[in-house]
Amino acid sequence: MYDTLIKNGTIVTPSEMFKADIYIKDGKIAAVTADASYDAGEVIDASGRYIYPGFIDTHVHSRDGGATYKEDFYHSTLAAAAGGITMVFEMPNAVPAVINKESFEAQKANLESKANVDFAMWGLCIGKMNNDNLQELSDCGVGAFKFFWGYAIRKDNYNLVYNYDPSDPNVIPPMDDGEVYSIFKAVAKTGRPVAIHAENADLIKELTGKINPADYPNEYEALLACRPNTAEALVVNTAIQYSKDLGTRLHILHSSASETVDLIKEAKAEGLPVSGETCPHYLCMTNKDYDHIGPMIKCYPPVRTQKDQDALWEGIKDGTLTSVCSDHAPHTEEEKNGSLFRIPSGMCGLETLAPLMIQAVNDGKITKQQLAAILSENPAKLFNLYPQKGSLNVGTDADITIVDFDRHYKVDRMKFQSISKVTAFDGMEITGKPVRTIVRGTTVMADDKITIDHPAGKFIKA
Ligand code: DOR
Ligand code: ZN
Repeated sequence: MYDTLIKNGTIVTPSEMFKADIYIKDGKIAAVTADASYDAGEVIDASGRYIYPGFIDTHVHSRDGGATYKEDFYHSTLAAAAGGITMVFEMPNAVPAVINKESFEAQKANLESKANVDFAMWGLCIGKMNNDNLQELSDCGVGAFKFFWGYAIRKDNYNLVYNYDPSDPNVIPPMDDGEVYSIFKAVAKTGRPVAIHAENADLIKELTGKINPADYPNEYEALLACRPNTAEALVVNTAIQYSKDLGTRLHILHSSASETVDLIKEAKAEGLPVSGETCPHYLCMTNKDYDHIGPMIKCYPPVRTQKDQDALWEGIKDGTLTSVCSDHAPHTEEEKNGSLFRIPSGMCGLETLAPLMIQAVNDGKITKQQLAAILSENPAKLFNLYPQKGSLNVGTDADITIVDFDRHYKVDRMKFQSISKVTAFDGMEITGKPVRTIVRGTTVMADDKITIDHPAGKFIKA
């Protein structure tokens, strides 16, 4: 007797697509078979629907602790469940910042008490202040290390400073490239990837000091002029060179510029251990959308031009970019009002990531199987969690996202599970949606409704 049977669906992985039934027992995939003749306690009819290895979002800032008025882990993981995401990777820039074993243990306990889906954790690199702690963090099971290249951080808690003022004594200025080299060296010893936010602070400072916003058609174009493609390409280039010198595995976060795709492609062709991701806002919007979306569109790096968007799609199609993630970065609506240069960057993304990528399948931009690659298999592989996560192999965790490619719906930010309702996609009509989210055999969302009443997500050691 099995616990659950999912019948009549079509199974999709990057390598296969076929009709079969899935049996689940004790939270694991027990059988994948065309023979639906066994008994199960719960029977889910997936006729006309597609069954994916649970979607994974590797880039989530839940603000817990530190800024729980914007978001917390309980709500972000409800948003994940609602959006068809069975596992999130929590970014380390919270309070406490995850910089050593002690802060890791504290944050893990905090997150475990609130997780509605499974989660893994990132470690944070803060240069010489924690290069010696990276091995202990690796031993704790962080999936990878994040480095916010180009950002100043607060002295008291190492959190990001959105508007850097060099005269502020409470702030650590952006690190120079020499110190970053020491980070790459320290990360290399752990064998795990370093993932970078790629923006060159010196160039941005120079340009921001020189431009006159009045010379641009709108404030967004002025912002873009201060954070040009070159600011990203410079950092990606340096990072690839460091990776080549030191053997550090390198992952480029939220790629936004066409140059980044070219650089990653060349690095891969050279056989370097370099990978890259991008996000729906870069794939589904351009600078032109600022006119009707307004400040909610602001994120760093910024949403760029049609040419960049086209290059990012090409990068996904040819496998240069291997994953798409949300960069879920909630802020309050009040915070998002004001000068584009001052307001914080980022928006909610957990509930729109999968629908937008499913829509992309319907639009012919990617195939159903590529969707399984970018949202399931590749994220798991990047962090050495495959096949426990990211597969439908017998014996692995029964994390499953069931997709209805025909389901029409309109994004309504007020219905978000997240505390913050900030998104650039409000009101968008989308065809295609996850209709069921299953975490280790338990349905956490079915037909738009959260179906659990207590957090049962688990920390997954990478
Ligand atoms: O737009 C962004 N917001 N980009 C980042 O890299 C950080 C994030 C945040 O944490 O607010
Ligand atoms: Zn981020």
